[in-house]
Amino acid sequence: MKKLLSYLWPFTKEIPSKINGTLELTWMNGKKVLDSQNANHSYGTLQKLLNYGLSQIRIPPKGEILLLGLGGGSIIQTLRNSTSFSGSITAVEIDEIIIEIAKNEFGIKNTSDLRIICDDAYGFIDQCITQFDIIIIDIFIDNKVPQQFYDLTFWAKIMSLIRPTGYVLFNAGINLKENTNIELIKSMDNPNVEFTQYNNVQGTNTLLIGKKGSES
Ligand SMILES: C[S@@+](CC[C@H](N)C(=O)[O-])C[C@H]1O[C@@H](n2cnc3c(N)ncnc32)[C@H](O)[C@@H]1O
Repeated sequence: MKKLLSYLWPFTKEIPSKINGTLELTWMNGKKVLDSQNANHSYGTLQKLLNYGLSQIRIPPKGEILLLGLGGGSIIQTLRNSTSFSGSITAVEIDEIIIEIAKNEFGIKNTSDLRIICDDAYGFIDQCITQFDIIIIDIFIDNKVPQQFYDLTFWAKIMSLIRPTGYVLFNAGINLKENTNIELIKSMDNPNVEFTQYNNVQGTNTLLIGKKGSES
């Protein structure tokens, strides 16, 4: 019913979160989107720009993906419905409220091929010993990537967790002008990683894609 009515007028529910502030769940034109105060959090432009990032990557159909920043899980919906990917996904999300929203509002929940872990992604990566085909880093608090996710120690560990021909897809920020953090990541001593930067994706975001196994 809500879906049908939303074609006539959009309606919004506010959900408070200690970590992400007030979140807004809006039904509009039959679609549900999740927003934070100043940015789309899931299922709107965020999903479109991540789709663009995924379109630049060779996704192994039976591979293993690590997603840092589950949010409402829109990229999981894309991977499952719009690509041939049928492998496993591990998703790390710091905010319990968000995990509940993903489950109750978007049907994204633990299954045999989706493992959702409530944890701080920085600490998780520090302890992680498993390698992945693709690591997606989509970590924001409202419209900012927390500074620690530009940290070179974090990035050195990320590089070690990507399989020999794998990728990292980093949603690196919104409306970035000059970002020395990204330049530093690109200039890290990784002889077999080739980085490509995409600016103004969906008019606002910077994406950084690293491909391992490029002998350059
Ligand atoms: C833009 S949303 C992710 C959207 C999601 N990837 C999707 O496809 O819909 C960013 C998420 O990063 C999470 N986050 C922020 N800091 C984090 C941290 N330190 N560890 C894990 N998740 C974090 C936020 O709670 C938020 O849900």
